[in-house]
Amino acid sequence: MAISAKIQGFMSQSSWIRKMFEEGDNLKKQYGKDSVFDFSLGNPNVEPPPKVKELLRRVADDIVPNKHGYMPNAGYTETREAIAAYLTGAQGVSLSYKHVIMTCGAGGALNVILKVLLDPGDEVIVLAPFFVEYRFYVDNAGGITRIVKTNDDFSLDLNAIEKAITEKTKVVLINSPNNPTGKVYDEASIKALAALLSEKSKTGGKDICLVSDEPYSDIVYDDIKVPGILAACKNSIIASSYSKSLSLPGERIGYLAINPAISDAGTVIDAAILCNRILGFVNAPALIQRVIAGLQGVRVDVEEYRRKRDLLCDGLAAAGYRFNKPEGAFYLFVKTPIEDDVSFVKALVKERILTVPGSGFGGPGYFRIAYCVDDATIVNAMDGFRKALREFSQ
Ligand SMILES: Cc1ncc(COP(=O)(O)O)c(C=O)c1O
Repeated sequence: MAISAKIQGFMSQSSWIRKMFEEGDNLKKQYGKDSVFDFSLGNPNVEPPPKVKELLRRVADDIVPNKHGYMPNAGYTETREAIAAYLTGAQGVSLSYKHVIMTCGAGGALNVILKVLLDPGDEVIVLAPFFVEYRFYVDNAGGITRIVKTNDDFSLDLNAIEKAITEKTKVVLINSPNNPTGKVYDEASIKALAALLSEKSKTGGKDICLVSDEPYSDIVYDDIKVPGILAACKNSIIASSYSKSLSLPGERIGYLAINPAISDAGTVIDAAILCNRILGFVNAPALIQRVIAGLQGVRVDVEEYRRKRDLLCDGLAAAGYRFNKPEGAFYLFVKTPIEDDVSFVKALVKERILTVPGSGFGGPGYFRIAYCVDDATIVNAMDGFRKALREFSQ
């Protein structure tokens, strides 16, 4: 059966992580699991906090009518209330349960909100380097992705964003802490971006929405704070999840938090609930919703990721690699010693090290290391990292 030509094209565009995954599988069969250093996937390896298991047990034992049944498409009120209370404290903006819609992860949240906001041909500004799936999500909703580069240190380039805004711009999508760079946008730049969007919305006569994709907001280092966007920007929406903060990506649990001050808040909320349904998600999974209701403010041991970050950064810096030290998330985006990042990633594969070329994230000249791996993988890969760099430095 012929598949859609468009999807055929998408399959080849999205093939890097898949290629690395397959490559990894082959190498593991050939050399054994412990001799392959797989940094290709952002699959959290720090265990969920013990309270997750405790609540899972309790929720499984609870006798509740219609426990596994359909529910309101926005999710359970108790869960939404718990998240709203948590966000009210964290964001400094008063939310009620109505502003929170439970979704199938941050990916589900983004697909829902883009479907809510976009008419065919509307533009979404995406900042490079970016999470690979954004372009597909925007396309799912009939939108057009406009890619805008960040500065050399991966901070926001407000001039470039301003230049990219057109009468068709509907959404600016940000991700902080960032995948693949680990950058956290500071408060001043978020405020400046909010001011820019407010001004452009006024002059253009059409609201531009700031959508903040924040699944890594709890994974930050060195006392860095992720500034709340709801207080900074009236027309803003958070898409988030517990995939990384509680190491639960397989449970597909996340949410949308809609700024109570957003224009036509009631309609946006109703539309998001409808889109959650008609995209086929229907509602976020039932049992895990009940679990996370009791886990607000709980997160994985971030210290473990900090240790891995430092182990990796210290080793690579000593070897001569160049990079910006990540402030959050669990990715390191490293400059390749040659322009062609794909060739360098292939050289690393020869050392049985699996990473992803920056080109796959709209960041050529770099490669991404996902350091959510055992410490031993980081330590044992160092020889290979050194060898590959030496090969291109002569
Ligand atoms: C930046 C970013 N956004 C969204 C997602 C999707 O997260 P979830 O598993 O919660 O759907 C990921 C997953 O890796 C991500 O890195």
